[in-house]
Amino acid sequence: MANYPEKVYLNGEILDAQEAKISVFDRGFLFGDGIYEVMLRIKGSFFYGAEHLQRLAKCLEKINIEFDVSCLPNTIDLLLKASNLELQDCLLYIQVTRGVAPRKHSFPNSTVPTLMLYAMPFVLPELNDKPISVVTTRDFRWHRCDIKMTSLLGNVMANDVAIKAGHYETVFYRDGKVTEASHSNIFFVKDSTVYTHPANEHILNGITREIVIELCHKNDIAVKEKAVWREDIVKMDEAFLTGTSTQIASIQKIDDHYFYQGSAPGLVTQKLQKLFLQLKNSYECEKLI
Ligand code: PDD
Repeated sequence: MANYPEKVYLNGEILDAQEAKISVFDRGFLFGDGIYEVMLRIKGSFFYGAEHLQRLAKCLEKINIEFDVSCLPNTIDLLLKASNLELQDCLLYIQVTRGVAPRKHSFPNSTVPTLMLYAMPFVLPELNDKPISVVTTRDFRWHRCDIKMTSLLGNVMANDVAIKAGHYETVFYRDGKVTEASHSNIFFVKDSTVYTHPANEHILNGITREIVIELCHKNDIAVKEKAVWREDIVKMDEAFLTGTSTQIASIQKIDDHYFYQGSAPGLVTQKLQKLFLQLKNSYECEKLI
């Protein structure tokens, strides 16, 4: 099965992917009533794995799914072994849904959450040095984008517009302010100061976003968690996206506006990309929880 993982962990069992089945009454299937995480294992260590699991726990709490994430490190070990990925760089997907119940908006307190994980080989480039183009659209999603939920229809619809038109991403704006993109966060640079939307209910607070802010703090790069007006995009010097698989991607063009011609990103973006690479190469995750 090309592009599918070979093994899937589902509710206590490791199965061949085609054998893994869930009930049609799973609320994840019916309502998108679940939370997910994506993280990468690089050179034997989950990159900011503890932070990813903390975010998973927080999001589950936000939607009142009672699930103790402390079982996950063992489960992940079993899955990596069964998938023959203990020694390889890979991507790990984790999903927890509210479980199975008769279809009704209100849910019984007694449902048992459905837990599904898979891992696949995944090797990141050292640096994401391809200049990208993006388009903008009104943020038509709901007002709880801080919850990393599996119901991603708004993000999927927006992303589709970008992909069909040959772009990397769609960037959202809400009430005139740039929020984030369909599967990544966005940063701008103006007069050597880095700007990104504050971590409130209108964006997912990306782990990579937090890493970049920390890199700025540690390296005397001025950074402000302040949204940029859509109409001010053309006044910005640089722009880049961040995300687990995106890493730091330099935006060359947004709608019809070019930040630069040629292939070299702006200086602040380049500096952050180098710092990010250094961090990746020196990183070791001691404990997931
Ligand atoms: N996407 N914003 C949105 C809407 C996202 O879906 C993501 C991640 C991010 C960046 O978060 P992080 O740096 O923690 O990956 C921001 C993941 C990777 C996905 O849906 O596959």
